[in-house]
Formats: sequence, structure tokens, C-alpha cells
Amino acid sequence: MTTKEQRLASLQRAHFNLFQIPATDVIIDLLTDSGTGAMSSEQWAGIMRGDESYAGATSYYRFLDQLEKLTGMRNILPTHQGRASERLLVEVLIGSPADGNGMIVPNNAHFDTTRANIEHSGAEAIDLLTDEGARSETIAPFKGDLDVAKLVRLLNERADDVPFVMVTVTCNSNGGQPVSLANLKQVREICDAYGKLLFLDACRFAENAWFIKTREPGQASKSVPRIVREMFDLADGATISAKKDGLVNIGGVLLIRDDAKFASASNLLILTEGFVTYGGLAGRDLEAMAIGFEEVMHEDYLRYRIRSTEYLGEKLTEGGIAIVQPPGGHAVYIDASALLPHIPPHEFPGQALACALYEQGGIRTCEIGSVMMGEHAVMQLVRLAIPRRTYTQSHIDYVIEVALEVKQFADTLKGFRIVEEPEALRHFTAKFEPL
Ligand SMILES: Cc1ncc(COP(=O)(O)O)c(C=O)c1O
Repeated sequence: MTTKEQRLASLQRAHFNLFQIPATDVIIDLLTDSGTGAMSSEQWAGIMRGDESYAGATSYYRFLDQLEKLTGMRNILPTHQGRASERLLVEVLIGSPADGNGMIVPNNAHFDTTRANIEHSGAEAIDLLTDEGARSETIAPFKGDLDVAKLVRLLNERADDVPFVMVTVTCNSNGGQPVSLANLKQVREICDAYGKLLFLDACRFAENAWFIKTREPGQASKSVPRIVREMFDLADGATISAKKDGLVNIGGVLLIRDDAKFASASNLLILTEGFVTYGGLAGRDLEAMAIGFEEVMHEDYLRYRIRSTEYLGEKLTEGGIAIVQPPGGHAVYIDASALLPHIPPHEFPGQALACALYEQGGIRTCEIGSVMMGEHAVMQLVRLAIPRRTYTQSHIDYVIEVALEVKQFADTLKGFRIVEEPEALRHFTAKFEPL
């Protein structure tokens, strides 16, 4: 526990950047759902069994079997996390920095690391959400869908400049919103018509499958593994951060169906991450991933997971705090512009709200707006990401109380300006000053 005075001092030491605050100064940590979940007893038992052989460890084969069962793909590489998979994919499909000049990679909405890796190659990362997906207050079942009309228009104009198409399931950048199977099928058909590869950013594939099962007409009777398989069957490959639906603290996966491209990725993996049977991880990490990728598809787990996020969203909405509707799978996103209409986007209303939640109650959240996305920000959001299998309802009730307290004095909050920032991914290290 900390006092408000201690938290203000901590904020000042961190130059009002919540990534710079020591975890000991945080009471409830909703900064991210990435790698922050609790592993199960089975996973910890797996950690004990980890085979640390450099090549061909039994833990690697368990990982491989599980990923093959899950995705139906045979070309599978372990990596240390999602962005390592993204980096390899971009280098294989686009090339080294500057090779991507003039190219475009469309996505429903790129996550920040995906965008940064694509832009690092010189290519442009374009978001093609539907208009509905970009509006926070609209309630619709699949606001993560990629706008197929926009994709067709883009391909009609510049097909030669598009090395591949991506779809992010669920779509973190617009509120953890799911993508329907029908939309994935349409995107696949368009990619086939234009001869384009389709890759999934599949970090939250199981949460997406649960939404398909519970929201998409005709899908309720299918099992989660079957829906997951149908999603992957539509893709030419995928990048996965296992820190989400792999239920582990570190790990990632890269899948590429094409044998020649997979061979190139394997060579690059050896160059930068490690041999192909461990990919920058320990054998025990592969063991934990093999188990996590199976446990995440248990329906009782998914029902509890999605319902507890929904509970937080419902209570905030009842208290008059506007959120991206409906609540996403892994997080609830508060619409900071709606709560702080007096702070314009260039004064970072999301940063102001995130700092206020921390100062008031020691709750660490994450700005997803103009600080993180720069001019690409479509909304000014504060994400309350829920770590998996970690917090109880009473923790979440405390979060709700603090958010409602902040709402009482929201009109007195001030914006921020950035006084120092790096070239890319500025939200991790930028320094802020209150206005
Ligand atoms: C949709 C999405 N893609 C990619 C990543 C990157 O994964 P990692 O943090 O493991 O590099 C994340 C992480 O939050 C994500 O949410």
C-alpha cells in the first residue's frame, strides 16, 4: 500500500510516465495483460520438467505438437515474444530497413510493435477498421472486423505495393474487439483474388474464438478448438505473443506455411534469437507454453475471463464513465476524451486520466491514444488490461471505486506536454510535464 503523497512523488520521479514507476509503488497493476498472468499448477509442474537440451529438447516437441494441433500448421518457430516474430516476418516478407519504401501493409488496426516493425522497414502500416469499429460508443458484436470495401479499394489502387495483409485477433488498438469468422473468410477471399498472403496477429486467438462462439450466428455449437482451427485455416501464417493467450510470462510463436519463407525465417531466428528448437527461450518456457496453449481453450476459463472483463465495463458504464462498447476480451478502455472533454488530443487526455487513476488509488493503467499512436490515434483511450487468473472481484471493485472517485474531479485535471521522447515507441520512455 502507498499513500497519495508517496504516489505523487513517484509520478514526479517517473516524469509522469507510468512505465517508469517501480511495481512496488503500484497497488493494482492493469498496465497490461501481457505476461502478467498467473501460471497454473500444471504449468509450474511443466517448468520443473523442462528439458534444457540445446537441440531437439522434449519440451520443444511438446510445444510443437500443441501448436500443430491448435493451428494445423507445420512450420512453427518459437520466439521470445510477439515482436520478435513480427521482426522476423517483416524481414522475410519485406526486407531490411529501406527495402519497404513505397510498400503498404494493411491491418484491421496494427498494434504499436507491429506498426513500428513495419515502419522500421520503410513500409507504411495502414489501419482499415470499419467506421463502426472506430466509434467508441457503438455497440456491435464484431468491431474488430477489417473493412473489406476499404481493402478492395486499396488493392485496386496499389496491389503491387502490398507485400501481405494482416488481421489482428482480437484487435487491441480499438478496444480488444473481436473479428468474426465471416469477416476473416471475406478477407481470405479478397487476398486470394489479388494473390496476397494473409497473416494473423493471433495474440488473443482464444478470446476471439470465444466471442465467435457466443456472438456469431451459427457458431454456438462448435467447440473453441474447432473455431480456433477454422481461424488459422484461413491464414498463411501468424505471429503470436504467447504472453497473452499462451498463458505464460514470456514466449512467442511465428508460423509461416510457405516452406521457402519459413526456411528464411528459421535462418534469421538462428542469427538473432537462437536455434530453431528453442528460439531465445529456455526449455522450461516451451513446456509452459505447450500447456498454456491448451488450457486457454477451456470453456470455463474463457467464460470467466470474458465475463469478469465485462463486469468491470458494466460497472463503469453504470457509474457514468464512457468506455469503448462493448467491453473487450482482455481489457476495458475508458474514453478519456468523453471524461475530460476540456483536454484536447494534443494535450493527451489519456495520459492525464492514467496519472489521475494512479495518484488517486495506485492503479496503473495504459494510455492508448495520441501518446502511443501519435497521429494514427483514432480515439483517446485509457486501457485497464486484466492480467489472466490474477485478480479477484474485490480487486476489481476497488478499481471501480477509484475510477468513480476520479470522475468526481475530472473537470479539474490538466493535460500534459512531452519534454523528451525517443524516435520510436515513445510511450515507454517519454518524459512528460503537466500543463
Ligand atoms: C495485438 C498485439 N500484437 C503484438 C503484441 C506484441 O507482443 P509482445 O509484447 O510479446 O512483443 C501485442 C502485445 O501487447 C499485442 O497486443
